[in-house]
Amino acid sequence: MGATATIAHPGDAARAPYEPVAWRGGRLVLLDQTRLPAEERYLALATADEAAEAIASMRVRGAPAIGVAAAYALAAAAHGAPSAAARAVREAAPALAAARPTAVNLRWAIDRVLARVGAAPPAEAAAAALAEARAIHGEQRAADARMAELGAALLPPDARVLTVCNTGPLATAGGGTALGVVAAGWRAGRVAEVLACETRPRLQGARLTAWELGRLGVPFRLVADGAAASLMAAGRVGAVLAGADRIAANGDAANKIGTYALAVLARWHGVPFHVVAPASTIDPATPDGAAIPIEERAESELLATPEGAPLAAPGARALNPAFDVTPAALIGAIVTERGVLRPPYAASIAAALAPLAPLGAPARPSAVGAG
Ligand code: MRU
Repeated sequence: MGATATIAHPGDAARAPYEPVAWRGGRLVLLDQTRLPAEERYLALATADEAAEAIASMRVRGAPAIGVAAAYALAAAAHGAPSAAARAVREAAPALAAARPTAVNLRWAIDRVLARVGAAPPAEAAAAALAEARAIHGEQRAADARMAELGAALLPPDARVLTVCNTGPLATAGGGTALGVVAAGWRAGRVAEVLACETRPRLQGARLTAWELGRLGVPFRLVADGAAASLMAAGRVGAVLAGADRIAANGDAANKIGTYALAVLARWHGVPFHVVAPASTIDPATPDGAAIPIEERAESELLATPEGAPLAAPGARALNPAFDVTPAALIGAIVTERGVLRPPYAASIAAALAPLAPLGAPARPSAVGAG
């Protein structure tokens, strides 16, 4: 990581016990998620190349969080080139956008910063980049709070909620998507326990979700990914909540590999399966799940530990798609900050993304509900 500075804790510890993504002194500051739970180490990144490496190697991960991080990375690039800030932002954007292909929030956030910088006078380009990054981050926090409120109301009383991957503050730089709903549900007395899937091969459930739920004080147990079917069959799962990395215009939703299997199992066993994601995760330009690019990651993620200790027999090969697509037909609701979307998703998504009607215009029928 070249010129990267490593720091203990960059922020106001009394305000936030941990801060996954932040802006400090002209740099993008990240809590290095590859080191959790063993070590809470922050990285201060000054260049877009460093940030692209951090996104690709999952030092920061989770669809909204990589969008927020990329936006601050563009602001850092502008900050480092005050006399040619707009050009620095334009030149930094492609490598950041290419760092991970499935999560649409990454490209969405980069496009927002590019548009804001493009509209600013050259002398104000760096300030414009930072203002847009801060706006994206603030909107994510607000969206997470609203989704938590709307999603918690969907949970059955005393629910045992099954989760996959990590969908908490680490994944959004706010309060989280599915895990934000779980935390709000627990505070409201609706969640008895979380069953967190380990989430092979990167173990986001075991390493990150367990760490976050421990911090929140929410009761949880880890389960092996393969335990979901028998737990559902035994009536030990009340609901499945997942995040998403990209939701197509028809409601098909890409998320961490294994999510599709959970949705099929949930339908078979009559367990509610909901997706929790901000509107920035919906990509109206992607018509359906078949058009979502699925990231394939290195074989080494399955074949060896991050430290390089072998896990598989010598000579074994691996196939490592990082995401799968859950068909819209298996999703009970998509919880967004704009409301709880219900099938048919082509209509409810179009309504949720439509620009607000001018005051005094006649109300349209809508499939978007508040709960
Ligand atoms: O590969 P990751 O760890 O970035 O995958 C993350 C997920 O699949 C999350 O569920 C998703 O980003 C949405 S949660 C904010």
